[in-house]
Amino acid sequence: MPLIAIFASGTGTNAENIIKTFSSQQNFQFIVFCNNPTAEVLQRAEKLGVPSIIFTRRDLYENGTVLQQLLAYKPDLIALAGFLWLIPAEIIQHFPDKIINIHPALLPKFGGKGMYGERVHRAVIEANATVSGITIHYVNENYDEGQIIFQASCPVYSWDTPHTLAERVHKLEYEHYPKIIAQLLKK
Ligand code: GRF
Repeated sequence: MPLIAIFASGTGTNAENIIKTFSSQQNFQFIVFCNNPTAEVLQRAEKLGVPSIIFTRRDLYENGTVLQQLLAYKPDLIALAGFLWLIPAEIIQHFPDKIINIHPALLPKFGGKGMYGERVHRAVIEANATVSGITIHYVNENYDEGQIIFQASCPVYSWDTPHTLAERVHKLEYEHYPKIIAQLLKK
């Protein structure tokens, strides 16, 4: 039975969408890894009957706890969905081509450290971009720099606010992230 590990730090609408999409298809297993004990994603996981692991910065970067948990669970894919910390090199080395991220803009623009959530959409609007979208990419040791797997775009309108643009981009995320995950699981 395929196991997908989802790393999330916040609201978790993508995590929920992925879990719901796959749960309705066949027997998939999930585990949510979260660094924020008050994150909404934890409640979403609980409602869906998905186990979650809360970890600290030390667990990820110093004492190897997160790596040990991943080695024990052996996920077929690790999908970051609104996860704000950098994945350490040691984890990347153990899971080559198995860790992916979704970014709410068209990389290589509007990415990098500190570019997450509303900040991304504000930067897109302030740059007067007429197109934005999503990027799904492999994770490497730098923020938002791994090899791009897939991009989809949407228009940016002159009246857009970060909020209206985020809604449009989120729709693309919900449509495409599960599909790309399914494709990668078949590889
Ligand atoms: C998404 O826009 C995703 O692209 C980015 O973080 C956001 C997470 O949203 N990496 P949610 O927590 O899934 O609602």
